[in-house]
Amino acid sequence: MRVVDLIRRKRDAGELTREEIEFLVAGYTRGEIPDYQMAAWLMAVLLRGMTKVELAVLTEAMLHSGQTLDFSDLPARKVDKHSTGGVGDKTSLVIAPVVAAGGLLVPMISGRGLGHSGGTLDKLESIPGFNVNLSLAEFRRVLSTCGCALIGQTAEIAPADKKIYALRDVTSTVESPNLICASIMSKKLAEGIDALVLDVKTGSGAFMKKEEDAVYLAELMCETGRRMGKRVVALITDMDQPLGCKAGNSLEVEEAVEVLCGGGPEDLRELCLELAAWMFDLGGRTAGVAEGKKLAAEMIATGRARDKFREIIRLQGGDAAVVDHTGRLPHARHTVDVPSPADGYVAGTQCEHLGVACVVLGGGREKKEDSIDPAVGLVFHRKVGDVVKRGEALCTIHYNCDARLAEARQLIEQSYRIEPSKPRETRPLVHRVIGE
Ligand code: URA
Repeated sequence: MRVVDLIRRKRDAGELTREEIEFLVAGYTRGEIPDYQMAAWLMAVLLRGMTKVELAVLTEAMLHSGQTLDFSDLPARKVDKHSTGGVGDKTSLVIAPVVAAGGLLVPMISGRGLGHSGGTLDKLESIPGFNVNLSLAEFRRVLSTCGCALIGQTAEIAPADKKIYALRDVTSTVESPNLICASIMSKKLAEGIDALVLDVKTGSGAFMKKEEDAVYLAELMCETGRRMGKRVVALITDMDQPLGCKAGNSLEVEEAVEVLCGGGPEDLRELCLELAAWMFDLGGRTAGVAEGKKLAAEMIATGRARDKFREIIRLQGGDAAVVDHTGRLPHARHTVDVPSPADGYVAGTQCEHLGVACVVLGGGREKKEDSIDPAVGLVFHRKVGDVVKRGEALCTIHYNCDARLAEARQLIEQSYRIEPSKPRETRPLVHRVIGE
């Protein structure tokens, strides 16, 4: 079998067999197929799509590229949540401790930044000492000790996704429903979970800009999960503006801590409660989503979720004192405001450009080998629908490198649409729920 023939067939919209897809996944995971050939094949998939059979085979091949975990000896139900990615989306940092504090087990395998969207692993690594590369034995120990553990794909679990994910990040091959589905579901199905809540973003800051594309992706993932015997629900949620008021790795940890302490921006808090509620419901912890929401709010109000976050950080080698003193997180040396060019209302944002601005500042990768700057990012002072006066700050840039500032600033300036009258409609936070 020759890789070049498989690339050509997909380029010409042909179908690959099980053996061929398994050959590609195994060969790339073992380092026998070079990045340039895999990148060409991924681009062909992005442009030409896959059949349902090809997608099922790709997901299974990626899932079985490593071990699948079995936590059936641990007494509580195992649930997880995964987002398709957006700007300022730090819900995992809040939800994981909330749900673990509420009595379920959360074995979470997350990803790094992808394209313009941030990644849970990069955010966690902005906490000094936090180790996302636990061995399987350590993962199990942390999970059974405190009810939650957060790691990345490793050489042992979902290694194919680890490599393909990093390649897609820097080759513009993210926005494919098939590749997103295989990436997410291969990791999640390896976790030994009973149930999964998917947060499928839609809007200008999402990979699926149009709602119908987000619904299509949600249905693909729900179908894949159910075929493998899992309870899966997908919430289609809004990403037409950043979630919360901060984007950038350590800034997002700071904002997640605000929510865990009972504060934080309304949209972020609300979405965290909603997603946690579905996890409680699917995990059989509560009789319904409304009760789940109450339980999630209680975990925050009583401080149990915040205590749980401290415990997770400590068990994974991090500085748990950041929860009480966020000044211990990395901070950028410089800040500068981006002022509004006019009086009026924020009518909308080109949210993807705000995410790209974070990458340009050094918060994401442009090449696979790039290291990231955990401290840089953006603080948003106005949400869609808010009034603003000319010269007032729309956003503050946190940066370390002058050379990157001008490009980021231009992206941000072009991202905000200011209009004289208040927008008549605001988009809902949760557009719809798929799969129940
Ligand atoms: N999250 C993932 O894990 N993979 C994707 O492809 C997109 C979001």
